[in-house]
Amino acid sequence: MIQVKDQRFTLQTKNTEYIFEILYDKYLVHLYYGGKTAGETVYSSRYKAFSPFTAEHGTTYSPDTCMAEFSGFGNGDFRATSLKLKNKNGDSVCSFEYRSHRIFAGRIELPGLPYADANADTETLEVSLLDPVTGCGVQLYYTVFPKEDVISRYAVIENRSGGDAVIEKSMSLLLDLPGCEYDMISLYGGHNNERHYQRRPLFHGNQSIGSRRGASSHQFNPFIALCDHHATETAGEVYGFNFVYSGNFLDEVEVDQLCGTRVQLGLGSENFSWLLKDGERFTTPEAVMTFSAAGIGQMSRNFHAFTRNHILPPEPFEQRPVVLNTWEACYFNIDEAEMLRFAEAAAECGTDMVVMDDGWFGARNNDKAGLGDWFENKEKFKDGLAAFVDRMKAKGIKFGIWIEPEMVNPDSELYRAHPEWCLQVKGRESLLSRHQLVLDMGNPAVIDYLKESFSKTFEGVALDYFKWDMNRHLSEVGSTVLPPERQGEAAYRHMLGVYELFRWFKEKYPHAMIENCSGGGGRYDLGMMKFSTMIWTSDNTHPKPRIKIQYSSLLAYPAATMSCHVSNPKNVCADPDVLKFRWQVAVGGALGYELHLPDALQEIKDTVKKQIADYRVYEDLILRGDYYPLCNPYETEISAFYYANGDHSRILLSALQNSSFSGHFYTLSVPGAQPDAVYYDAINDLTLTGRQLIVGIRYSTVDKDPTGKMWYFVKQ
Ligand code: DGJ
Repeated sequence: MIQVKDQRFTLQTKNTEYIFEILYDKYLVHLYYGGKTAGETVYSSRYKAFSPFTAEHGTTYSPDTCMAEFSGFGNGDFRATSLKLKNKNGDSVCSFEYRSHRIFAGRIELPGLPYADANADTETLEVSLLDPVTGCGVQLYYTVFPKEDVISRYAVIENRSGGDAVIEKSMSLLLDLPGCEYDMISLYGGHNNERHYQRRPLFHGNQSIGSRRGASSHQFNPFIALCDHHATETAGEVYGFNFVYSGNFLDEVEVDQLCGTRVQLGLGSENFSWLLKDGERFTTPEAVMTFSAAGIGQMSRNFHAFTRNHILPPEPFEQRPVVLNTWEACYFNIDEAEMLRFAEAAAECGTDMVVMDDGWFGARNNDKAGLGDWFENKEKFKDGLAAFVDRMKAKGIKFGIWIEPEMVNPDSELYRAHPEWCLQVKGRESLLSRHQLVLDMGNPAVIDYLKESFSKTFEGVALDYFKWDMNRHLSEVGSTVLPPERQGEAAYRHMLGVYELFRWFKEKYPHAMIENCSGGGGRYDLGMMKFSTMIWTSDNTHPKPRIKIQYSSLLAYPAATMSCHVSNPKNVCADPDVLKFRWQVAVGGALGYELHLPDALQEIKDTVKKQIADYRVYEDLILRGDYYPLCNPYETEISAFYYANGDHSRILLSALQNSSFSGHFYTLSVPGAQPDAVYYDAINDLTLTGRQLIVGIRYSTVDKDPTGKMWYFVKQ
């Protein structure tokens, strides 16, 4: 609910409140964000010597010390700015005053960008600001998602100056908090090792994470949280933030002289500038925030519900397919005969779909050639793709295919015909990464080629699924179709082109599901989740590192997005015990397989069949239930968590141990269990009361590395 009274705006969600007001009819000052306060917060000047003030209002207001909603540049607010806008006179000073506002149901679409869908509860506040000197305007948008306790923010910059302006820095969300006694949680990593939990106390100064790689990246995820120093999984105050965008970003947190904290998320200033002609508007991507007074777990649940309800596309199938992916089993060695063996084995074991990974197109026998040539390799599929896919599906499975539309190998027909279609900078070598270059997705000719070429190749092919990969980051980012003064726009325009192609795929193949991938989870972000039902969490399928990668991913993203495959070290498929632990880890998310099932012993096939049948029993809890983290694997030797339905009549509890040490005891408590109910756990043949579950069951570590235990409690 959004209310305005006496120039004070109050945005309410189920458990939170966000308040700001208009001071002296001009300045937007932030007052409060947190749990419900009954509105007692008032403005008080926080003036400090050396802080500039206006002649009219004296030291009662200074841009340098007040808590803001949006910051100008060079106007006396010396903290990190939301907008740097070079005006027609060549300076970049900007300062904004309130002009008007409106409140409306639902929300406005963001042109070309992914954004959270509105539902009947969604409301938006638009606040219009003006810089009276340059004539440039800013509209701030606050969209409230009450049920999920999420508020989203973005801005529209409007040039009404009568000349050209250049956006040199753009941020979507600014939140000023009065204190600085917080830890910052962020997710860092690399390929094969993405999204590791990091928690550090804030220090005075600017601390930031971001990506200059043209992708949200394995190295830093756009999600961050600020929590009080003692916050745990189940207690303490936590603010969570995320960005609905998949390219370069900046999350900056600055602790100032008054021990206040400014949090900002946006495109930043590196790898981004935008020429805004007179009369033009620029819309920043959307950023989101949430607040939890009940620990880190509640923050995660808020973001999970928000992502499921407002970001993810509808599930294309009644039941999410368990996929058998060919990559780790075959790499590039695929052909029709081998794939048909996969289809038979998949049907026998109960995997619903075979996903034919890399290697099916052009001259693609290794990673040095073929990217960009999106037609089937006739030696591997002699009767063409349509006939082959029909034969696969006749075995009783669904069929998915791998693509990497944004890339090209220099050794390809496409590159030989159109070298100018790659991102490039005149006179500079375009560096290779995995032997590939990046297509300039901001060039409409490239998008047209891709649409045409996929349309032709997939004509009449009964595809159920795309695995959309992206295997390098962007260097030498420049475009042959942009003039010099617009080269700073290339990375952002590239991303808009990527989104356009995703939208086209969704419209052209409405019944197909998209699994996103970027060398594993290199684009694990809310922008990609707008189009992808799930994301390949990591190329690292070893269960020990996966325990941590999955724990950290779940801080911000729901389990439904986490594509988790059981793999086997050498694809020998020899040891059911190995498969058991790998499965226990994989059912933390959406289960799939990465095994050479056609060559597996019958015993292994039977194990897989049983694993899938077990998963089906509680799959709905994993994909749509609520997630409760109990033990953080970065702080203890186990990762423990449970999924439950709304009334806690069904609870799936896991303890995954990633080091061998016996005799450490953990109490795994299920606070939401119904105290008077009796629960039966069929996995361990155990009967417990809800009260016993609330007190907690004991897990004692064992001298086995690694190992896991699961309980599935159903109210009797
Ligand atoms: C990287 C992905 O993460 C893998 O799963 C696989 O699809 C390869 N690319 C194929 O080249």
